[in-house]
Amino acid sequence: MSGRVMARSGSSEERPSRQINVILRSAEPPVVSQSSGESEAAAGTKSLPHQGLFADLQKEMNGLVGLEHVKELMYEIFALLQIAAMRSEAGLLSGAQVYHMVFKGNPGTGKTTVARIVAKMFQKMGVLSKGHLIEVERADLVGEYIGHTAQKTRDLVKKALGGILFIDEAYSLARGGEKDFGKEAIDTLVKAMEDQKNQFILILAGYSEEMDFFLATNPGLPSRFPIQLDFPDYTIDQLIQIAEGMVKERDYILMPQAILKLQQHLLREKCESEHLFSNARHVRNIIERSIRQQAVRLLSQYTSGSPGKLELMTIRTEDLKLDKK
Ligand SMILES: Nc1ncnc2c1ncn2[C@@H]1O[C@H](COP(=O)(O)OP(=O)(O)O)[C@@H](O)[C@H]1O
Ligand SMILES: [Mg+2]
Repeated sequence: MSGRVMARSGSSEERPSRQINVILRSAEPPVVSQSSGESEAAAGTKSLPHQGLFADLQKEMNGLVGLEHVKELMYEIFALLQIAAMRSEAGLLSGAQVYHMVFKGNPGTGKTTVARIVAKMFQKMGVLSKGHLIEVERADLVGEYIGHTAQKTRDLVKKALGGILFIDEAYSLARGGEKDFGKEAIDTLVKAMEDQKNQFILILAGYSEEMDFFLATNPGLPSRFPIQLDFPDYTIDQLIQIAEGMVKERDYILMPQAILKLQQHLLREKCESEHLFSNARHVRNIIERSIRQQAVRLLSQYTSGSPGKLELMTIRTEDLKLDKK
């Protein structure tokens, strides 16, 4: 078994619980804390993490619509880290884990959002010292002449130390084949994963098919990324729930007719643009635009005096501008 781990929603034999076992079995020697504190507590040190630590993160995760398999995996990793700390306290072996991940899914399916929460979780659990996220894409890594790419990539890894390096549309690094500088970026990343083990987590993200192809054509890679997560497209109901969450969080309300209008628009849009449909990001853009439209409408309606509180909160059908712009 390669140690490659799959976590797909709706497939019971590939549940994340098995993944963790796989990672455990391939355990490497325990991590020795470094004086810099970068990877301190990777195998658990003095203070045991407290269950309450997870409550904040859980609240944040639960604020996300759907993504049940991601939530489940997060809890398993949390449990594993907690138990590893206890095992280490009891003088038992607690192997170092590999947490590099691949996030597969269309735009706006929550990949970056989840990566941010993952970064925070690992920071709270003492695996990462800083818990920040550096989000990059091909252009940030790849340079213009030989050696330039390696330097650019190393600099970004350095910035990401203590946190997560998140590479969006990572498959594009393999775009040009052997002669392309993308290959140099991949090689530099692989080297950094060896040299700076446990000091940063690498997350590669991108469209499912492209990422599968990318991993299949770079045989050394899959085993280095034991956690692979799928981010499926949201259903229309989930998108509406996301929209309602977004307006609520901004102290607005959507009129029922506005919800209906949004629902019909999303149905059409999802159907027509398929691969290009940007899921929750599309919804966020619509909501933000409708908030601006509502402001314009209210200003023109109330030339003197202020609208009432409810009116200030309400987004009406006419505020939803759904033409492409
Ligand atoms: N499950 C979800 N629940 C609520 N909001 C979400 C969810 N998934 C994504 N979003 C929101 O949609 C937007 C795009 O998400 P993002 O994580 O950037 O997607 P991706 O990285 O997959 O393109 C963000 O504003 C995010 O907060
Ligand atoms: Mg993203």
